[in-house]
Amino acid sequence: MYRRMSESRSMVAVKIGGRFFANRKLLGNFADELHRLSKEFQFLVIHGGGNEVTELSDKLGLEPVFKDGVRITTPEEMDIVEAVLSGGVNKRLVRLFRSKGIDAVGLCGADGSIFVGKSLGVVEGINTRTGKIVKVNPRLIEILFDNGYMPVISSTSTELDGKALNINADTVAFHLAESLVVERLIFISDVPGINRNGEIMDVLKTSEIEREISEGVITGGMIPKVRASLDALKGGISGIVIGDYRVRGDLERLIKGKRGTLIE
Ligand SMILES: Nc1ncnc2c1ncn2[C@@H]1O[C@H](COP(=O)(O)OP(=O)(O)OP(=O)(O)O)[C@@H](O)[C@H]1O
Ligand SMILES: [Mg+2]
Repeated sequence: MYRRMSESRSMVAVKIGGRFFANRKLLGNFADELHRLSKEFQFLVIHGGGNEVTELSDKLGLEPVFKDGVRITTPEEMDIVEAVLSGGVNKRLVRLFRSKGIDAVGLCGADGSIFVGKSLGVVEGINTRTGKIVKVNPRLIEILFDNGYMPVISSTSTELDGKALNINADTVAFHLAESLVVERLIFISDVPGINRNGEIMDVLKTSEIEREISEGVITGGMIPKVRASLDALKGGISGIVIGDYRVRGDLERLIKGKRGTLIE
């Protein structure tokens, strides 16, 4: 387990979703709070951005394909995914965080082989560039932590032979949280938590997850999030929360379990 000798702050992995951080004002408030709470917590940020990938794909006339809420990336789409997520989105976040006084560094999975993967093969008739993670190597993240930096991680990576891969960002968040043994894993999305019959659940029990998926309560992009949460719990991470960010103070409330859905 990684612990810096002189480090007293607890580690928190925060995965932020594309429609949340598209709102400049909310993102600015979030960054201010991230900076303020950095005295108390060592943050690792993982980001998505599927909506921006879809916008550019649309313009280029490519039809996105999803299975269980996960994008099945075609080889043509892979270039767009890498350019949007690990270029535009990642650097925009890094620039904003730095402007707020956070010593942010932007990386993807291929950098230092933080996480590398393998294609899922043929899915929905597509020889896909979507992959699963086969190896996590958090050394570069630890080096950054030890030197006071906050890593901002995008979810593209590489196969061992150098081919580009797209990995679902919720899955990346789980693997990094597990390998670093973080104290909290927070998913910030565009919904205040998991909705069941019109109500946001305070707690979702892991035993209910597959049933809620099969009954159509949990669909689309929420599926990889709850599955990643289930895996994270099995991996020994306890404080897992799915929620949204509306006003200053929400990040602290999410971390302290006073907002969003807690996965137990
Ligand atoms: N039971 C549910 N409760 C809440 N949201 C749900 C539920 N089932 C499906 N969803 C959908 O999940 C979406 C969130 O996942 P989505 O993948 O779209 O965003 P994200 O993961 O936050 O962002 P990104 O994919 O860019 O990382 C919500 O906008 C909502 O439409
Ligand atoms: Mg998503």
